[in-house]
Formats: sequence, C-alpha cells, structure tokens
Amino acid sequence: CGITGYIGAEDTGRIVHDGLKNLEYRGYDSAGIALAGDDLTIEKTEGEVDDLTAPHAAAATVGIGHTRWSTHGEPTETNAHPHTDCTGEVAVVHNGIIDNYDALKSELQPRHIFESATDTEVIPHLIEDRLADGASLVAAVQRTTAQLEGSFAIAVTAAGHDGIVVAREDSPLLLGHGDETTFIGSDATAFIEHTNRVTYLESGDIAHLTTDSVTIYNDGERVTRETETLEWDAEAAGKSGYDHYMLKEIHEQPRALRQAISGRIDDLGTEVELDVGLPEEYLHSLEEIQIIACGTSYHAGLYAKELLETHADIRVTVHIASEYEFTGDRDPWRTLVLAITQSGETADTLSALREANRAGARSLALTNTLGSTVTREVDDTIFIRAGPEIGVAATKTFVSQVATATLLTVHLGMIRGSLTGQTVDALLNSIQDLPGAVQQILDQESTIKRAAQQYADSDAFFYIGRQAGYPVAIESALKLKEIAYDHAEGFPAGELKHGPLALVTPDTPVIALLTAGTNAEKTQHNITEVASRGAPTIGLTGSPDVDPDLDLTFEIPECGLMEPVAANVALQLFAYHVANEKERPIDKPRNLAKSVTVE
Ligand code: G6P
Repeated sequence: CGITGYIGAEDTGRIVHDGLKNLEYRGYDSAGIALAGDDLTIEKTEGEVDDLTAPHAAAATVGIGHTRWSTHGEPTETNAHPHTDCTGEVAVVHNGIIDNYDALKSELQPRHIFESATDTEVIPHLIEDRLADGASLVAAVQRTTAQLEGSFAIAVTAAGHDGIVVAREDSPLLLGHGDETTFIGSDATAFIEHTNRVTYLESGDIAHLTTDSVTIYNDGERVTRETETLEWDAEAAGKSGYDHYMLKEIHEQPRALRQAISGRIDDLGTEVELDVGLPEEYLHSLEEIQIIACGTSYHAGLYAKELLETHADIRVTVHIASEYEFTGDRDPWRTLVLAITQSGETADTLSALREANRAGARSLALTNTLGSTVTREVDDTIFIRAGPEIGVAATKTFVSQVATATLLTVHLGMIRGSLTGQTVDALLNSIQDLPGAVQQILDQESTIKRAAQQYADSDAFFYIGRQAGYPVAIESALKLKEIAYDHAEGFPAGELKHGPLALVTPDTPVIALLTAGTNAEKTQHNITEVASRGAPTIGLTGSPDVDPDLDLTFEIPECGLMEPVAANVALQLFAYHVANEKERPIDKPRNLAKSVTVE
C-alpha cells in the first residue's frame, strides 16, 4: 500500500492526488483521500486513484491519502482508507497489519460502530476515545500506538486539531521538506517532484506536522532525525515518453548497469573496489552465505549462488525469505546472511533477517533503496544503484542485483584467494561488456516484438536453462506470468523429462537459454525432445546456427559469464510485448504490488 500526505498553503487536494498517482505501483485496488481545513472531507473509491475526483476543498491545508493493496477485507469502497471514527472527525490511513485488532475491536465494539472489515479501523476509534478524554492529537496517537501490536505506518488528521500526526513501527515512512510545506510518503516517489530533502522516520517515531513546524517524538521524548538529500529527481521517476514504466525501465538497463559498476572496478580493470564494511578476516573465514529474498530478488539470489560457489569458494544456500529458519548446527559467526531486496522493505525478507540477527549471524543487504528499513537492520549495505523502479514487474533491479553480486563475488574471491588472475579478468571483462551487450539486445526489439506477437496466443510458455540459465528461466517465466497473465513455468532443462514434458504440446513454446554459462550443449538435447513433440522452440544464443531444431533465435552478444543476464533482457522484452499485445495493464498487474510490506 502507499501513504501520502501534505501540509501547506498550496492546492492540497491536487498535491495529495498526484502523490497517490505516484504511489499507485504500491497497490491500486482502492484509494482514498482526507482533506482537512475547517471541516474534514473524505473521498474513497473501489478502483484506481484516477476514479477519485480529488476534491478541491477550498480551505484545505492538510491532506492525507492512501492507495491500497488489500490484506484484511475485500477491495471495496468501505474497506478503502482513510478510515474514520464514529464522529467522522478523525481520519486515518495505514500501511501494515495490526496483529491484535480482533482483541481491540472486541473491547471497542460495545461503544463503537465498525463499518469495514479492516484491521485499520480500530485505530480511529481508539484515537476517538483518547481525544474524548481531552488528549491532544499527538498524545492520542501516542497512547493509541502503545496499544497496537504489529507493523504500521499511519497518518492521522482530525477536524479541529492542528496538522497531521504520523507514526511508524516497522512499515516505511518518511517526510519530505519543502518551503513552508511538509510531505509524507511511504517512499520518496510520493513527493519527489516537490522536494528531495527527506527525513526517514525510525521505528517508534511519532511526528507532529503543522504548517510551521515538524516535531518528532520517540518513547515520549523529543528526538532529532537527520535530513538527507536524495539524488533521484522527478524525471527519473517519470515515463519519459514510453508507454509504460516497465518499458522505460527495460531501456534504462545499460545506464543502470553502468551506475552499478561505476567506481567499483579499478582503472586497469583488474580489481574490484567494493566498499564492504565487514572485516576482511571475517570474510576470509566465512563458512556459508545464506541468501534470503523474495520474488525476482530470490532469482537474483540463485544467480548469485551460482557465481559465489563457483568463484568465491564458499557454500551458499538460497532461501525464500518466508520459509527461512536459522537451523542446523551452523556457526552463526561463520554465517553471513545476505538479504537481497530492491525495495529494502519486503516484510518477509525483513522478518527472515531479524531471525538471523537473533541467532547471531552477521548480515549484509543488497538493495536499491537508500534509507530503507533493511539498511538499518544489517551490518552493512551494498547499493545496486539502479535508480527508481516503478513498474511492478522488476527488470532493471534484477540485472543490477546480479551485476552487483558479480562484483561481490570477485571481492570475496580475491579475499579468499580462490580466484586466478585469469578468472578475475574474465568476470570483470564480462561485467564491463554487459551494458553494451544489453544495448545491442534492446536494438533487436522489433524482432523480439514480432516473435511475441506470433506466440502471444499460446496455451502456455516453458522456459528451460541450466546453471546460470536456470535462474534466468524462472525469472523470465515469472515476468510473463506477472504482466501477461499467461501460464508460464521455468525448469532446470534436465528436469523437463521428469514430468513437465507431459505438458508440452504444439501450442506451448519452449524457450531455451543456450548462452555461455548455461551448459548449452546438454540443453540442446532437450530442444530435440520438445521439437519432436511439435513444440515451437526459441533459443537465446550467441551462435545462431547452434541448433537446427530451433524455430527462432534471439541473438545474444558475446559477454562471457554475463550472457544469461543479457538473455534475460531479451525475455523481459518478450514478456512485455506478449502482455502489450493482450492490452494488459502492464505497470499495474492485477493483485500484485511492487513492495509487499506485510507477511
Ligand atoms: C513483490 C514484487 C516483486 C518483487 C518482490 C520482492 O512481490 O511484486 O516484483 O520481486 O516483491 O521485492 P523486493 O523489494 O524485496 O526485491
């Protein structure tokens, strides 16, 4: 879900509405706005932000808004935020989950009427009680949050009370500072066109925003929090003439990759200069890296495992974060937990990280988001520097994660003495060649688009690959599922004959990774198997004549061990054009959200 808010003299309704439009990628099944001046005006919709008329309440100086990705309760207008109390004078928007809402609701119910099926609605009713006791709005929010268990970021406004009060427990929330105006966002995209000066709130913080001041409290005491200047600007967060954010982000990949590499390889191209804050002796003595991640980041983790085990001589286990437990007799001090998360806010990943931290493991984050929660909870962070990614389906962050993991592999391999100069050269050359190779793939977009149009109506799509081709196969299948709503699956190519082959028909294209680093010779046998059953075949390969059984090839320029990453870009375009052919809402696929901040 996304939260935004504004306090200032300008056109409050429009600013809050624009903030919600910017945040739609975080959830878009319902939305709402509360504007407060002399009165409180609330507008909600079951649907998208554009369905809100953005009320221009003439005297409003305060506004809060919410775009929802439903957890408790259907996506209906009643369940949309803001939620109010019985008097209709308190408005609350909330991200996260209130674990004890059932108990709180039972306590409140004899005296309060509940309208919605959400956990959030207990909050305005609790605040109503505190205000009735004579508390100020800040004190009422403080006493209310003390009763809440779970994770939350909330923004509250109330008729007759000055300003907005926000509170954060785990779920992300930050403030943006303009000239005599203050913005609220669950991330900076909400207000980046107005200001890049931000304050990240910490867990337990409660902030009171008025037209001329911002006061932050934690545990009842006034606290100060730093103001940071973000490098991202509004243009980076816009569509720059592309039909979809996703397409823009696919095309941004050469630049994103250059940014990921920039300053991290020495001038001779023989050494990695990656600033990892963990001691070298510790990295030398590591016994295991446990990668925790979800979705596309999990696939980047599988790719990283392939690199780290082969080149940095270290055992790597990759865990879907929601399944993670720190078990077995591993020594926590010899175990490094690597959290891969582009947003830095995924609740499953944070929860796994906390479990590892409790067990005493050290931790490192690979993330795209400065100031995100993960960066505050790990021993050190490496940024992937992909720039803002708005399309729900991750593209440039995947390639940047893999590129950065490759640099980490060389860094660790050099410390651990497991890499020959020759392999360092090969890895660093391939990573430096990658942005150019990706550009050459983007230049083939019209060929890939034609193939996508040709196969768009297929019954299902199967992706196969070995070694580094496997994570790319499952990532490419996920892309197609997410945005085209087609049945797509990725398999290790060798597993095809152990079951999935039963699904292969003349209406199910099989897409094979046949680049360097994918044991392509073996996968060719699998192409023969599926071609003899009539399936259309598409190969991603550096040598177009590789296999007579291929119906189509997407040519992948030479870039050594990074070729599977380059192939992934071709398959992002393929998924995009299949989805576009079907007129899907590509940037906002049904039921999905960019950043899932609930477990
Ligand atoms: C959501 C998104 C996915 C993303 C996953 C992990 O499910 O829809 O695209 O891969 O979260 O996100 P993270 O921010 O942790 O990388």
